[in-house]
Amino acid sequence: MAKKLTITAELTVFESLQELPQSIQELMHKAQEARERAYAPYSRFKVGAALQLANGELVTGNNQENAAFPSGLCAERVAAFYAGATYPGVAFQTMALTVRSLNKEVNTPTPPCGACRQSLAEYEVNQKSPITLYFMGETGKVVRANSVKDLLPLIFDSSYL
Ligand code: THU
Repeated sequence: MAKKLTITAELTVFESLQELPQSIQELMHKAQEARERAYAPYSRFKVGAALQLANGELVTGNNQENAAFPSGLCAERVAAFYAGATYPGVAFQTMALTVRSLNKEVNTPTPPCGACRQSLAEYEVNQKSPITLYFMGETGKVVRANSVKDLLPLIFDSSYL
């Protein structure tokens, strides 16, 4: 007999950044600053990430594009891999994400792509504590996910290998 499984994910939507605690607003401001330093001449879509680590360090990243398109990397993975390379084993606590398009105004919260969710999942599973994510466009609403699991149900991790 086939069994149906229902997967639930919980997200919280805030009307604006001002609704969030000062510490999260500051983290998002760091993401906005990083976003402006993105190298995105091809997509004209700038993404910034700010990652708060458990040792108090703050790491930022932005998308780095390439004339050979697949050789570029997303903002989230630039930040996550820098953190992993510089502070191995230190837990990721909170990541703030923001985007800005040079073509149009983005006021829709823009979630991380699938590959970035999978990369972040690896750290979350290993550290055994959830990563809180906040994402927004350039303006407008902010979405909070309390765990990568809420963005990537059925995480593929090393337990399947
Ligand atoms: N991008 C990110 O940096 N993060 C995401 O999660 C989605 C996409 C970048 C990749 C590329 O440089 C540009 O945005 C357009 O896809």
